[in-house]
Amino acid sequence: MIRRLGRGKGRGPTEEPQQAPGLSGAGIATEPSRLPRHVAIIMDGNGRWARQRGMPRVMGHRQGVLALKPIVRECARLGIEVLTVYAFSTENWTRPRPEVEALMNLLCEFLARETAELKAEGVSIRVIGDVSGLPPAAQRALEEAIAATASASRMILNLALNYGARNELVRAVNRWLKAQPPGSRPVLTEAELARYLDTAGLPDPDLLIRSSGEERLSNFLLWQVAYTEIYVTKTLWPDFNPEELHRAIAEYQRRQRRFGGIG
Ligand code: FPP
Repeated sequence: MIRRLGRGKGRGPTEEPQQAPGLSGAGIATEPSRLPRHVAIIMDGNGRWARQRGMPRVMGHRQGVLALKPIVRECARLGIEVLTVYAFSTENWTRPRPEVEALMNLLCEFLARETAELKAEGVSIRVIGDVSGLPPAAQRALEEAIAATASASRMILNLALNYGARNELVRAVNRWLKAQPPGSRPVLTEAELARYLDTAGLPDPDLLIRSSGEERLSNFLLWQVAYTEIYVTKTLWPDFNPEELHRAIAEYQRRQRRFGGIG
């Protein structure tokens, strides 16, 4: 279960108290009482951002990491419970080796640089994906960051790393099978499967944001986004900022969610 501080209460020392909870610096109004509990983001467009500037792709990723921090802070400030970001997919291993290595280094640098501040802001770091497939240095950095921030209860920053939804589903079913008594003929239910997913215990995303204009899910949280509202912006991830986040939340709040009913 997620431990919450509650909206508008128990905010950390780094909070800007003079700012109304539902307003960004840009003044896009969002309704504090109807916030998504869980926001998921496909941070796409780093490569194009770099290419447009005649830079190597890695510079786009570097800028992408810098873009993440204000989004994490703003989500925590607003009172969002979980922010899940797609940082490295099971398919991203097919990229040129130097790019993969650069992404892993950026992850380690990000954790080394930001963990203490995230903890101070009440952000607890978690990971989804097959962590055992990551380089040992990245695994160690993650373990340390997760342990260091475990007691933080304001928001979960969930990093999807070596994550693919199909891989997650297969790992979940295999784990479930292993847990069944030998010789039994168990039947897997939706609720049971959800308990074996990497996201066990977390609410499903209410809002999925994808930057850079592509309209696809790219093997991200396929089970969990069954009723998620999807928001696509043409903005490339390194340019995505809290104002864009507010625009996405404002759009989410205009949607009528019916969950298959008639509303
Ligand atoms: C997609 O852009 C982005 C990725 C594959 C990596 C996303 C990673 C980050 C934003 C930084 C790492 C995050 C952490 C937490 C350290 P792309 O390269 O596919 O862009 P393109 O479609 O324009 O080529």
